[in-house]
Amino acid sequence: MIRYPILTFIIYSLCYVRKTFCANILLTEDLGSPSHQIWNYALADELVLRGHNVTILGPKSIPLEGHEKFHRIELEGLYSAHAFDSETLYSYGRLNNLQLINEYALFTCNHSLGTNGFRTLMNYPKDFKFDVILFDITVSNCLLPLSQRFKSPPSIGLTALLLPPHLSEAFGNPYQSSYLPHILFQFSNDMSFLERLQNYVWTKLEAIVKKYYYTPKSEEIARRVFGESMQPFDTLLKQLSLLLCNLSPGFHHSQPFTPNIIPVGGVHIDTKKKLPQDLQEIMDNAKHGVILFSLGSNVRSDALKVEKRKAIIDAFSKLNQIILWKFESQLSDVPKNVIIRRWLPQSEILAHPNLKLFITHGGGLSTIEGAFFGVPMLGIPFFVDQYHNIDLVLNRKMGSKLEYSTLTSDTLLSSIQAILNNPMYSEEAKKISRVMRDMPETAMERAIFWIEYVMRHNGTHILDPKSRSLSNFVSSSTDIHLFLLLLFVLLLYTSFKVVSSIISMLLKKKHKKTKKE
Ligand SMILES: *[C@@H]1O[C@H](CO)[C@@H](O)[C@H](O)[C@H]1NC(C)=O
Ligand SMILES: *[C@@H]1O[C@H](CO)[C@@H](O)[C@H](O)[C@H]1NC(C)=O
Repeated sequence: MIRYPILTFIIYSLCYVRKTFCANILLTEDLGSPSHQIWNYALADELVLRGHNVTILGPKSIPLEGHEKFHRIELEGLYSAHAFDSETLYSYGRLNNLQLINEYALFTCNHSLGTNGFRTLMNYPKDFKFDVILFDITVSNCLLPLSQRFKSPPSIGLTALLLPPHLSEAFGNPYQSSYLPHILFQFSNDMSFLERLQNYVWTKLEAIVKKYYYTPKSEEIARRVFGESMQPFDTLLKQLSLLLCNLSPGFHHSQPFTPNIIPVGGVHIDTKKKLPQDLQEIMDNAKHGVILFSLGSNVRSDALKVEKRKAIIDAFSKLNQIILWKFESQLSDVPKNVIIRRWLPQSEILAHPNLKLFITHGGGLSTIEGAFFGVPMLGIPFFVDQYHNIDLVLNRKMGSKLEYSTLTSDTLLSSIQAILNNPMYSEEAKKISRVMRDMPETAMERAIFWIEYVMRHNGTHILDPKSRSLSNFVSSSTDIHLFLLLLFVLLLYTSFKVVSSIISMLLKKKHKKTKKE
């Protein structure tokens, strides 16, 4: 802003003309994962660019460089207090994963509400006003009562984790377990009866465990801090006007959204940034093309077992391509075609025409980015939603999967070559990319429009479908189905009774007749 003083002056003058021109916005985030911050920061940066005053209450998992224009109140220690070990997570089953996510929610609730950062915000002047609050509600609802603290301005939910079933339901959008596989199952969207049964039972089970076990626990933690007047999380969730979720029609499974759920998948993708000079030259001059290898921000390449790392290096040494590898520490004895960096500008690399393949852990942000830029992917998933994201890649025929447990030099090399030597993957990837980009506006423009829309209308509950306030039993017409079933059974029973009594009457008559004769 400071770089453009005249523009700044104009924007601030306009503030007095139209309220949404420079609103006071709070964004809260109580989850340490760096990828969620990348997503939220992208939104915050754009809001600042449009003249808004943005305050973020959240952890510090990625450096602030380039994002220094919003105000940050740090939930200190949230990221460092809870590290994930990729090798352990890889061994986790479905139940472990369910527990992991929910226990993490309790941890983050407990930790966040005890930080100095949280107290700083609570100690803002009593009459301090936010025009809108954006809550990242991916795993926890513990910061939602902040809305009450700031006199309930219009508010919006955010999640960078696709569209979790319980959030979909909270906005009155019934989750379709008949064709949307739960992220912890490796099902396609074409499920058999037994798969649908498992998918249904698991989705309901998860909702029940959350509702009756984890939610009361975290409400108890929050109530200790916010006081007895705190409203239940369910009520607070219903006060959110909209949910912005990280889905992109074209790449993700097609599904219905009620008007209060806005899919803004890929808001973090910035097509305007340029590659640094050295990488630009490397990529321009790569005769056989470039392969990008990154396991994202939670799985660290330098924490992989030594034997796996050796297998990876061995496979790479047999390729003609240049390999850009995001590796978090030093590594000696790497082959000449392998370039190691602690950090790599992923979007910019994916956008380069010489990029032939993206080897990824299957993170939500990475897979959308790969699809957006039309790059074939080889997925090596580790945990939670990563299998699901790679299944989406397989579903769209734009890549393949390699199980980490079966990763050897040979399996890695043959998986890479199978993709490089088959033009189908690249063609399908480009097709998806064209569909994703051919939209009336970018995902970011859509997100900003809807945030400002909520402010302009002082909340938009007018968009809520009635299903948001009905019980599932009623909104899914289960009561009607049961009633009709009962009616049908009664009808069947009475017809059976009538027919059998007629038959027995006829038989009796016949019997009498034969006796007479
Ligand atoms: C902008 O946000 C900061 C940090 O929350 C706050 O101190 C400041 O008062 C806000 N400015 C305006 C004009 O509201
Ligand atoms: C905005 O909505 C809230 C609650 O729905 C209400 O209390 C408040 O008066 C409204 N503000 C304006 C300016 O209409």
